Amino acid sequence: MTSGLDSSQGQNQPVPARVRIQSGLPSAEQNGTATAATGAAGAEQHGFAPEVVFDSQDISIFYGAKRALAGVSLRIRRGQITALIGPSGCGKTTFLRSLNRMNDSVPGFRIDGQILYHGHDIYGSNVDQVEVRRRIGMVFQKPNPFPKSIFDNVAWAPRNLGLKKGLHDRVEKALRGAALWDEVKDRLKDSALGLSGGQQQRLCIARAIAIEPDVLLLDEPASALDPIATGAIEDLMHSLKGRFTIVIVTHNMQQAARVADRTAFFSLASVEGEPKPIGTLIEFDDTTTIFGAPRDPRTRDYVTGRFG
Ligand SMILES: Nc1ncnc2c1ncn2[C@@H]1O[C@H](COP(=O)(O)OP(=O)(O)OP(=O)(O)O)[C@@H](O)[C@H]1O
Ligand SMILES: [Mg+2]
Repeated sequence: MTSGLDSSQGQNQPVPARVRIQSGLPSAEQNGTATAATGAAGAEQHGFAPEVVFDSQDISIFYGAKRALAGVSLRIRRGQITALIGPSGCGKTTFLRSLNRMNDSVPGFRIDGQILYHGHDIYGSNVDQVEVRRRIGMVFQKPNPFPKSIFDNVAWAPRNLGLKKGLHDRVEKALRGAALWDEVKDRLKDSALGLSGGQQQRLCIARAIAIEPDVLLLDEPASALDPIATGAIEDLMHSLKGRFTIVIVTHNMQQAARVADRTAFFSLASVEGEPKPIGTLIEFDDTTTIFGAPRDPRTRDYVTGRFG
């Protein structure tokens, strides 16, 4: 299927109407406001709970014969920060990457169950993967700026989408949004590789938000950073919250407690029919509950450092 997002498309139309239909995803306007128009997930909304962005239903993920995740059901809500925590190898990255189909290119990858994005099956046959990546941005553990100028890094995705009009303003807005503008505004033409690690990570966040995605997925974005740069990234998350729905994987318990509204604890557990423990979701609740009064003893042991 063609993406419909090549540069021949209208410059000021990030989500061409044709793509909306092809992709089977809701329009940007629907994303922004509607609940009734968002399918099953929106219809289930009640009280003051924000709209459901992702509804993961009984997800299992396999790499070849190996099962990496079993039976994960959870809902991620609009404008919130959701943290995924748990021991190494329990499938946090695997789950995060499944939310924007980043695993599709991994040989042997297979997913069972359903992930609804605004009520639409993100693995549906009519869904355009390019469109998925446009709406659901990702920032990796290790900053990965392109060997290009600071400006060109941030301008890269807008240019790819044909969003050339007002490009300088867009780049400035993204850099301001990522709290990096003041540090780089006088050297936009310099190589991004000359930035510090913390600056590079904020640049990668600016690059991700330059096309104004709906969701930001962050896989341990501060794990390689010092406490000051980590603080900057956490402040940034707070400032982006509300505008974006954020899902963050972190090994830093204090960080999860500081930034997340909701926290999901994953761990390895026995699963029927499997000889070895498999990654699964143990508990998902408000962050204050997960850290203050978890229901499952395994969560309690983990968050109090008694794990293992
Ligand atoms: N590309 C891959 N091919 C095969 N197996 C994989 C692949 N990626 C991950 N796995 C396996 O899936 C399981 C979950 O890995 P994953 O990277 O999702 O864990 P994680 O919770 O993110 O761990 P960490 O905290 O160390 O980053 C592990 O057993 C891992 O070896
Ligand atoms: Mg990981």
